[in-house]
Amino acid sequence: ALEADLAAQIAAASDLAALDAVRVSALGKTGQISNLLKSLGSMSPDERREQGPKINGLRDRAMTLIAERKAVLDAAALEAQLAAERVDLTLPAPPRRKGSVHPTMQVMDEMVAIFAEMGFAVAEGPDIEDDFHNFTGLNFPPRHPAREMHDTFFFAPGEDGERKLLRTHTSPIQVRVMQQGQNQKNEAPQWAAGHEPPIRIIGPGRTYRCDSDRTHTPMFHQMEGLVIDRNIHMGHLKWTLDTFCKRFFESDAVVTRFRPHHFPFTEPSAEMDVQCDRSGGSIKIGEGSDWLEILGGGMVHPNILRICGLDPDEWQGFAFGMGVDRLGMLKYGMPDLRDVFGADVRWLEHYGFSA
Ligand code: PHE
Repeated sequence: ALEADLAAQIAAASDLAALDAVRVSALGKTGQISNLLKSLGSMSPDERREQGPKINGLRDRAMTLIAERKAVLDAAALEAQLAAERVDLTLPAPPRRKGSVHPTMQVMDEMVAIFAEMGFAVAEGPDIEDDFHNFTGLNFPPRHPAREMHDTFFFAPGEDGERKLLRTHTSPIQVRVMQQGQNQKNEAPQWAAGHEPPIRIIGPGRTYRCDSDRTHTPMFHQMEGLVIDRNIHMGHLKWTLDTFCKRFFESDAVVTRFRPHHFPFTEPSAEMDVQCDRSGGSIKIGEGSDWLEILGGGMVHPNILRICGLDPDEWQGFAFGMGVDRLGMLKYGMPDLRDVFGADVRWLEHYGFSA
């Protein structure tokens, strides 16, 4: 009866856990068959001779049945797992989130492409500058209020007392490019091949000022321009910038004007405005009767040429600096500059450019 009972229970075990419960109830420490085996010890020799083989046989058959059932259940479990984990290659792939080109970088690329076509090469400088390249070398007099107007981020002074700063504009690139020909002893400039004047560069980069509102962020981007050659005059500057604006805004209807201004490193200096319509909620370029300032420029001040070892009687030049983010806002209709650096994925998906 025990054997038939066990056989039925083993056959009925529907999974490995149930089968193991049956095994424990029969063959575990206090299982039914184990108890029978233990009882052999208290039997008389004759009885034991008769019962021994029977009980051992029962134990062997029970173990065999359990092993066979286990094999069946193992196979079934594997089948079930294979079925559950089957890869359906006909299912559509899950949507993948793709990155995009940040609008500022896109605008930067567009600007570089326009100037590259006009023959400008790209030059760069460090974000962390010294007073000389950001101010003194650009003809800012010591303690001149213009230094304060730049809302400069200064670093703590170093051991030598020098205060590094985050460049407030890309104009230090001008000084670095023009000084490439200078040597330690301040003799006549010795330009490395390819770096001697005439110079025609643009200098894109990050710039920093302690300022934040709808049209200002503490970090923003500028693009510097510098041309040094013989017989350069203001007309070259005006044509270059007007041509740039027409190409950048993709319309010959774009009208620009120069307004007198002051920068310590250019003389004469000007700010350039584009004609626009601000009567609606947004700004439209190329129509209307309003003006919007988009950049500063002028003729390189003779002092800068001298500081950089160039003879102002031989070399002249023009320089300009424009706000990259500001121009991007105008071209693509972004209302608030702070969003440009807000890293909101919804904003980036709306204004970003596919890579
Ligand atoms: N550096 C000036 C600014 O940030 C712009 C400028 C550049 C003006 C070059 C003249 C020449 O306002």
